[in-house]
Amino acid sequence: MEDQKCRLSPTTSTIFVLGLVWILSNSHANAAIAVADASSSLSTYIVHVRQPMDKHFATMEDLHTLYRSFLPATAAGSNQEQRMVHSYQHVLSGFTAKLTAEEAEAIQEKDGVLYVRPEKALSLHTTHTPDFLGLHRGVGLWKDSNFGKGVIIGVLDTGIFPGHSSFSDEGMPPPPAKWKGRCDFNSTACNKKLIGARSFVSVGNTATPYDGVGHGSHTSGTAAGAFVRNASALGNARGTAVGMAPLAHLAMYQVCNPSGCLEGDVLAGMDAAIEDGVDVLSLSLGGQSQRFSDDSIALSSFSATQKGIFVSCSAGNLGPYNFTLSNEAPWILTVGASSIDRSIKTTVRLGNGQEFDGETLYQPHDFHPVLLPLVYPGVNGDGSAALCLPGSLESHSDLRGKVVVCDAGDGTGGVAKGQEVKNAGGAAMILVNNPTAGYATSPELHVLPAVHVRYIAGREIKGYLSTASAPMATILFKGTHIGISVAPTVSFFSSRGPNYQSPGILKPDIIGPGVNILAAWAFPLDYSIDRRHTFNIISGTSMSCPHLSGVAALLKSAHPDWSPAAIKSAIITTAATLNMGGQPIVDQTLHPANIFATGAGHINPSKAVDPGLIYDIAPQDYIPYLCGLNYTDYEVELIVKKVVKCSSIRSIPDYQLNYPSISLKFTGSVSKVSVTRTVRNVGPAKSRYRSVIDPILGLDSIGVYPSDLEFANVNQTASFRVDFTRRVGRNATATLPLAQGAITWISAQHSVRTPVAVVFE
Ligand SMILES: *[C@@H]1O[C@H](CO)[C@@H](O)[C@H](O)[C@H]1NC(C)=O
Ligand SMILES: *[C@@H]1O[C@H](CO)[C@@H](O)[C@H](O)[C@H]1NC(C)=O
Ligand SMILES: *[C@@H]1O[C@H](CO)[C@@H](O)[C@H](O)[C@H]1NC(C)=O
Ligand SMILES: *[C@@H]1O[C@H](CO)[C@@H](O)[C@H](O)[C@H]1NC(C)=O
Ligand SMILES: *[C@@H]1O[C@H](CO)[C@@H](O)[C@H](O)[C@H]1NC(C)=O
Ligand SMILES: *[C@@H]1O[C@H](CO)[C@@H](O)[C@H](O)[C@H]1NC(C)=O
Repeated sequence: MEDQKCRLSPTTSTIFVLGLVWILSNSHANAAIAVADASSSLSTYIVHVRQPMDKHFATMEDLHTLYRSFLPATAAGSNQEQRMVHSYQHVLSGFTAKLTAEEAEAIQEKDGVLYVRPEKALSLHTTHTPDFLGLHRGVGLWKDSNFGKGVIIGVLDTGIFPGHSSFSDEGMPPPPAKWKGRCDFNSTACNKKLIGARSFVSVGNTATPYDGVGHGSHTSGTAAGAFVRNASALGNARGTAVGMAPLAHLAMYQVCNPSGCLEGDVLAGMDAAIEDGVDVLSLSLGGQSQRFSDDSIALSSFSATQKGIFVSCSAGNLGPYNFTLSNEAPWILTVGASSIDRSIKTTVRLGNGQEFDGETLYQPHDFHPVLLPLVYPGVNGDGSAALCLPGSLESHSDLRGKVVVCDAGDGTGGVAKGQEVKNAGGAAMILVNNPTAGYATSPELHVLPAVHVRYIAGREIKGYLSTASAPMATILFKGTHIGISVAPTVSFFSSRGPNYQSPGILKPDIIGPGVNILAAWAFPLDYSIDRRHTFNIISGTSMSCPHLSGVAALLKSAHPDWSPAAIKSAIITTAATLNMGGQPIVDQTLHPANIFATGAGHINPSKAVDPGLIYDIAPQDYIPYLCGLNYTDYEVELIVKKVVKCSSIRSIPDYQLNYPSISLKFTGSVSKVSVTRTVRNVGPAKSRYRSVIDPILGLDSIGVYPSDLEFANVNQTASFRVDFTRRVGRNATATLPLAQGAITWISAQHSVRTPVAVVFE
């Protein structure tokens, strides 16, 4: 028995690369936190113990006492209490404690201990941003729902700014009776909107869950912010700012501080949220791909799912490269990021009459669009001047009164580059993208007239610069524009599949708005501005995740009896695959995005409310799935929190889980794969569906059996099989690594689309 335990390996204290937020305008300050206690050789370890069968361990106090009994005798008395960091009740059977390596080894050998490993330090991909604004947000995607009434969204993040107008409780009902949470601010800070706020940050200042970063206020406001009328950006674009589920309640679980998030703290936040009675959990954070048994978010999300709580997580910001996803478990909704149909439009006009559209938030009314000399300080190969890095333009005396071209990127934000140009006397700046960022432009609060343009526009502008005898340019400010027909597009930073841990599960699941999102912020640097009306614009899958958390709250409010898997199914099978112009959704290259970038497609909330059919999954269905991934009995036990013997279970390959999408791999000589699925009727009682197949390149045939489904009752289920047959012979699939298609069930009122990804090896 002992030898079956996972061995303790102190070398596994890898630093996670955390996709917590991606801010276009900022450098990726990547501060890792030292987990080790500075004053001693103590480090924080996560200790998994076997779930006590004894009913005596029913309360948290009893569990805490039990957990303490595993601590070494050397840490006796009150010292023992100080060694304990967090005790867990729901997310795992166990605790985190400060231990020496020898003590951790000794605990690993104790009876009833499953697994001991060092806590990982997660790092935060954000810095404080000085940019702030209040802006018209003007989108109301919730129109077919109850505004999320009665639903509680738990947000795990950097804390919250309680006084913000986005968290006003005007018109809010009181929290539901089941709510058990609490507010660790003073009694006036929480209200019927913000019903809970606690901090689980175990290092540094943990007095209150106040948001010292801004990120947590932003994600909370996006998920469930109240209507804020007359929000504005320095007088521009007045309008109403509002979250996705404006009548949902919010509970903040602060698990990150400005320098990062610790695994044990995230587990503690999840544990409390489950105990408190939240309905939806929103986590705009994650680490590297990990086995689910080693992944704190996967582990704790499973516990939440067992309790009927929906978990929405960001996919990560490591795109456009393949295999860069975080949060790949099938019980999580994994959300990628897309652009929205709004731009703060600004146009470059060159001396030859050519024009290029770009963006900036700072729209000066007193800038006269007269042609000025155009220069590129990097023209002679000076790399840092090309990037307009701080200090790089000091020796360039020739920039005065000119329009200066700067390359975007290299860790310095666009605003800082503009400051450098301004310091050098430049009149205006054109910020041009590198090829990776491609078409992604960002409206920023620049310090001078400026415009951020696409890579291709930049190439043309530089071409003009090198050929014109006296190059000239100016900038035209055009304000907010809604209705860009190419939107939504997949943003370049959005992490891409395939799913590394479980190739038979398509990830990401969905994309949602994550580029240039306006929402509540915690502080402006300029204190003359009213903090309660401060908004900021940032980008990342951190921003798309809470959009989907809000949508999940709307669905939960409309269908209180739906399981987390049913809600996910509704989101996936109704997603949009075309953009506003009716063309396939494109990526940052403006070519059609592949299925490992979009997942099912773009969220379409009003359709998700009424999906017709549901692919459901009960928590116990994940056990044969996990056994099929070849997890050991111990690993499965860590996830599902009960003893499992895979040898006595009929395990299934991952693609056979009743997931609303299908992901297949043809390897070697495999020529046919059959997949079964079961749907439940949640539409009209009498419904008839026929199957429609989008053909898949590289496959000879796709057969759906039966090809029609007939229902007489609500909640009636029907199963079907799909046979995928690979093309063989001369024109086989040697040059085709990936193909995609779909199987859609169509009735008079509904269209239920199951996206299919096929990888050939
Ligand atoms: C309670 O907290 C809010 C928000 O932090 C603050 O504005 C208010 O002054 C505090 N009230 C008291 C009585 O401390
Ligand atoms: C909106 O706010 C501005 C100040 O920011 C104020 O001058 C204006 O009267 C307000 N408008 C409304 C309709 O409240
Ligand atoms: C990702 O994989 C797809 C399909 O195999 C391929 O076309 C694409 O070039 C890859 N992208 C990157 C960035 O490697
Ligand atoms: C699990 O192990 C079996 C037997 O070794 C193997 O055939 C199968 O491919 C493995 N599955 C996965 C998902 O690794
Ligand atoms: C369908 O099942 C759900 C629970 O799974 C139940 O709440 C609902 O009442 C059922 N609807 C009908 C029409 O039977
Ligand atoms: C093989 O593919 C080529 C090019 O796509 C096509 O011209 C040819 O007819 C195909 N041959 C067969 C046997 O399908």
